[in-house]
Amino acid sequence: MQTLTLPELTISDHVTETLLGKITVPGVTIPQRMVVIEPQLIKDLIDAARLATETAYNAVPAVKFPVGAACIMADDGEGEIFTAANSEMGVLNAGICAERALLHYVVSKGFRRIKYLVVSTANRAKEINLRSPCGLCRQTIAEFCDENSLIVIDHDQPGHLGDVLDINRLLPYGYRLEL
Ligand code: THU
Repeated sequence: MQTLTLPELTISDHVTETLLGKITVPGVTIPQRMVVIEPQLIKDLIDAARLATETAYNAVPAVKFPVGAACIMADDGEGEIFTAANSEMGVLNAGICAERALLHYVVSKGFRRIKYLVVSTANRAKEINLRSPCGLCRQTIAEFCDENSLIVIDHDQPGHLGDVLDINRLLPYGYRLEL
């Protein structure tokens, strides 16, 4: 066990007056905080997500982009590592990303709270935008996160384990259904 500092993120509000009314650029403040991490568990999940890329179904020659995801759920007393891969169909819209394939499965097993979720892509040596969860996956991940949930984005830099974010940092301004 070790602690990790998630740094403060501040974007100020900005307002511009126009003849037709105000236009606002909404700001956001996410305070700095510490979380406890288990590096060995994160490493095991990264290995599992990398292995899962090998089961990706990539039927679309123009895409052929294997992605693997692995998670441990906070409400799973057995701490099982679940994995899934993306599935690219001949009918493009019918495919699904690795993260959503994984979460729909895990949720169907009765679990609701992510402890760690790791995503690993074929682009893991590249910039973060080329290997991080898509918008739809972020919103799905958010549904099953609390403030302790961590999302790890695999990358291949020597001596590095991965990029880590909480859901506020991964999806600021994410939609929330008010019940
Ligand atoms: N993909 C994922 O599996 N997860 C993401 O978050 C980003 C994109 C997949 C979907 C598609 O099969 C391929 O990567 C290219 O978009």
